[in-house]
This record gives sequence, structure tokens and C-alpha cells, in this order.
Amino acid sequence: MIRTIVQIGDKVLREKCKPVEKFDSELFTLLDDMKETLKDAQGAGLAAPQVGVPIRAVIVDVEEGFFEFINPVFVWQKGEQTGPEGCLSVRGKEGVVTRPNKVKIVYKDRNGNRCSLVAHDFFARAVCHELDHLDGIIYTDKAVRVYDEED
Ligand code: CO
Repeated sequence: MIRTIVQIGDKVLREKCKPVEKFDSELFTLLDDMKETLKDAQGAGLAAPQVGVPIRAVIVDVEEGFFEFINPVFVWQKGEQTGPEGCLSVRGKEGVVTRPNKVKIVYKDRNGNRCSLVAHDFFARAVCHELDHLDGIIYTDKAVRVYDEED
């Protein structure tokens, strides 16, 4: 089911999200709905608080594939990249944000298995952007400038 993507100004986007404790059918439904919602919105990533659920779960859909990260934590962050970024909760805008160029995270999959992953370049940017959402941070907080998206 496609869920409504909450927009900047909604206080759920500013919450410190709670860790996922139950890897159950409620979580599976949320993740499946998030995937459908992301596909519909043609975005690169979506965090659970963006559909109004303040828990530590994000999805990322990039060239490298489709990923679900539950309770993700950075192991390390390296390098730097500066480039344009947008967010499905900040419609019609883009901003220039500096991010690490390479990151390693540990996380759980939907079944609660411990996993780790190294992401580079745009994938790393997407991971950083989505993990920020879990701490109530929106890219516009970090952008050097925000402007109207070109269509
Ligand atoms: Co976002």
C-alpha cells in the first residue's frame, strides 16, 4: 500500500527514532509499503519517519540495488563529496550538501540478522541522508544552499 510521505514542518521528521525490537509482520508490512511508496515517488531512499513511523528503519534504492537497513549504525565514514541532494519530504527543492564519500554501516535485515555494508559515492550519500532522518535531521539543515529543483 502506498503511504503518504510527510512533509517538512511535520514534527515526526524531527523525532529521535526508536530502535526496532520486533522483526514481525508489522515491520514487514511497513517495509513493503515503504518500497511501494518509494517506487511510486521515484526516489532513492525513504526513512520510516517519512511515512509517520518514528522507528529506525530505512530503505535505499540505488544502482547497487535495493536495500533495507534496520537499526543501522555507522562503523566509519571516510572522505568527502559535495553535490546536489533532494528529499521526498522537501518537495520541489534541492540543496548542495557535503557528505562522506565512503561509509561502513552495521545493521539488521528484516529477519533480524546482523549485516554490514560498505557504500561509496552516491550510495554513501543516500545512506547518510537516510540515517540522518532517524535522528530528526533533514538535508536542508546541512545544505550550504537550497534552491528550486529544475524540471
Ligand atoms: Co530525505
